[in-house]
Amino acid sequence: MLALRYHSIGDLAGLGLEDIPVPEPAAGEVLVRIRAASLNPVDWKIATGSFRLIVRGGVPRTMGSDFAGEVTAIGSGVTTFTPGDRVFGFIDPFRRTGGTFAGFAAVPVEFTHHLPAELGYTDGAALACVGATAVTLCNLGHVGTGSKVLVNGASGGVGHVAVQVAHARGAQVTATASAARHEFVRSLGAHSCIDYRTEPMKRWPGDFDAVLDCVPNIPRSVQRRLLTRRGHYVTTVPNAATFVLDPLINRCGGRQRHGVMLKPDAGVIEEVLGYVAQGRLRCAIEREFPLQLARDAIERSRSGRVQGKIVLRIS
Ligand SMILES: NC(=O)c1ccc[n+]([C@@H]2O[C@H](COP(=O)([O-])OP(=O)(O)OC[C@H]3O[C@@H](n4cnc5c(N)ncnc54)[C@H](OP(=O)(O)O)[C@@H]3O)[C@@H](O)[C@H]2O)c1
Repeated sequence: MLALRYHSIGDLAGLGLEDIPVPEPAAGEVLVRIRAASLNPVDWKIATGSFRLIVRGGVPRTMGSDFAGEVTAIGSGVTTFTPGDRVFGFIDPFRRTGGTFAGFAAVPVEFTHHLPAELGYTDGAALACVGATAVTLCNLGHVGTGSKVLVNGASGGVGHVAVQVAHARGAQVTATASAARHEFVRSLGAHSCIDYRTEPMKRWPGDFDAVLDCVPNIPRSVQRRLLTRRGHYVTTVPNAATFVLDPLINRCGGRQRHGVMLKPDAGVIEEVLGYVAQGRLRCAIEREFPLQLARDAIERSRSGRVQGKIVLRIS
């Protein structure tokens, strides 16, 4: 099968398509023929060395974490899937070297979900990681009916889904995006918009119950000003402070800080699929690329300007 692989971490010079054997599903895994896979910044960030200290498994690695396709074989102990099932999900790219930008991938069942008939492979692949991230952002931010929520980076992969999830939960959403994308984020449910390019953070309105930072780039001092006294700041990129310092500070009450660490969670995916079925959530696909043009797709993602998602067509 063809797989997009790299043999060293640091730059993308050695990234290329290689012909490698189809993997065998281990116990608790299913083998999926990948039809579509979407690109997340973490895919190229791992390859370029952003997470050297936490990445496990070394090289070579096949890039990719989101997937949608059909089950073609099951490992021992798997009872919830059978060959022929249409599935989607994402794998943990920090722990697994066998990614999803390949003809097949062996994926753990806890990261695999049945793909509803109304969703195509492109939509399933686009939705998996950003859907789970958006619902987790809203859970950590205690977003519910009447919440005042700021989504920073609202036109990107995570942000545009976070706007829709917060809106579907009954929140009033303010979105940051460049001016040309305000119409887009309003169409997803944003109540008001801020052009982050012309409006410095110090002039952004405050009094938010939750700030969902999908860029993320809001300094701690600004977080304080944006939030109510009991508000929640949630970042998509946790760091040492998020893990060590913030849980201690959060115990003192007042404003709370959290970071998204995705874990397998069927309830989160169920919420995503519920909104999709109700017509309240859709993934915007900026462009699909064939696997052979994966480098172009990666360059587009690295521009930091993608509106919605980029998807790779695999087979
Ligand atoms: N913890 C997790 O599990 C998890 C999961 C998914 C993603 N992430 C992380 O979350 C971040 C966002 O991911 P993504 O997939 O949404 O990225 P993305 O799709 O590449 O984001 C692109 C968007 O970011 C916007 N943007 C860029 N700079 C901005 C700024 N200064 N202020 C406001 N918006 C800005 C752009 O909007 P304009 O075009 O309007 O400028 C563009 O639409 C990444 O760092 C990613 O690694 C973490």
